[in-house]
Amino acid sequence: MTEGSQPRLLRVLAGETLDRPPVWFMRQAGRSLPEYRELRTRAKDFIAFCHDPVMAAEATLQPMRRFPLDAAIVFADILLLPRALGQKVWFEAGEGPRLGELPALSALEAEIEASTGRLSEIGETLTRVRAELEPERALIGFAGAPWTVATYMIEGRGSDRSGARTYAYQNPEDLDRLLDILVESTARYLVMQARAGAQALKLFESWAEGLAEDVFERIVIRPHAAIVEKVRAAGVDTPFIGFPRGAGALVDNYAARVPVQAVALDTQASAAQGQRIQAGGKAIQGALDNLLLRAGGPAMDARIDALIEQWGKGPYIFNLGHGVLPDTPVENIARAIGRVTGKV
Ligand code: CP3
Repeated sequence: MTEGSQPRLLRVLAGETLDRPPVWFMRQAGRSLPEYRELRTRAKDFIAFCHDPVMAAEATLQPMRRFPLDAAIVFADILLLPRALGQKVWFEAGEGPRLGELPALSALEAEIEASTGRLSEIGETLTRVRAELEPERALIGFAGAPWTVATYMIEGRGSDRSGARTYAYQNPEDLDRLLDILVESTARYLVMQARAGAQALKLFESWAEGLAEDVFERIVIRPHAAIVEKVRAAGVDTPFIGFPRGAGALVDNYAARVPVQAVALDTQASAAQGQRIQAGGKAIQGALDNLLLRAGGPAMDARIDALIEQWGKGPYIFNLGHGVLPDTPVENIARAIGRVTGKV
């Protein structure tokens, strides 16, 4: 590949500082786009949608056709893995995910090997998208991080995570065993995604907030590091982006200890914290407030400029601090991308 067509995202993940950061948005595919809402009506349910490579590839590519984004993220969900391990998962319209009772840990362990095959359609989606996407735009695969996925498996739904944290304190051996199951199955799933065409891999730890330092070490840092090591041991050198959302000051510990190539920051990250992580040899990603993207206007432009000013002197990927909200005006998304790429 010539210098000119190496995707910006991959250059930053290799440690380069660019004239302008690559830009993509978490949840760039989805309900903020009218063409997504139309496509969604044609699927039986959300899980069937994710497991249909033709429809999922279309959803992945919709924002790429509309906007000059530097990367696509495969259309899938972090809860496809517990389902592949044998736990019941469904989505209640307008409410969010629901999961059946947590299966016996021995039953989950018995399904680890088979789980990757049950996710083969996500690999097919990646292969289809990679074949259609221009070479200068990167394709990202992802998985939920073990603790975040475990919170849904334990609580059976989105929650304040107090039930999962209580479980972690009352049943530490079971929690560690569940995290080990998720480390192994997630590593296999990500290896499959890389072989199918993912050029970067993102670990979504959406619920890393509120954890004491020793707990954070045990249920976030250790499992993330183990996943990266297992993927490397399988001979896959695809770069990783880790997203310990809500971890605050502990993001520094994360950056120092987890062998990811980039750390995704959330809205509360300070300029100095991001710069420290860059100085430590990692790229950073983030962290425009998704509410500010939705609000738009001069405040959005000013914050975009400030983020690029504070972090653009090192390896930096422009993104949000959390996903695009469904009622975000499409014009604001277009304007934000234009602002980053120097068009407006
Ligand atoms: O970012 C992308 O565009 C790629 C696709 C993607 C989805 N979910 C599609 C989706 C990604 C990367 C995810 C990750 C995900 N899923 C996370 C981690 C990131 C985060 O937001 O913290 C989590 C916690 C989930 C679990 C999940 N999936 C919830 C809580 C919900 C319900 C809330 C909601 O937004 O509806 C989902 C459903 C979901 N995942 C939708 C989409 C497009 C909406 C479903 C629909 O269109 O009916």
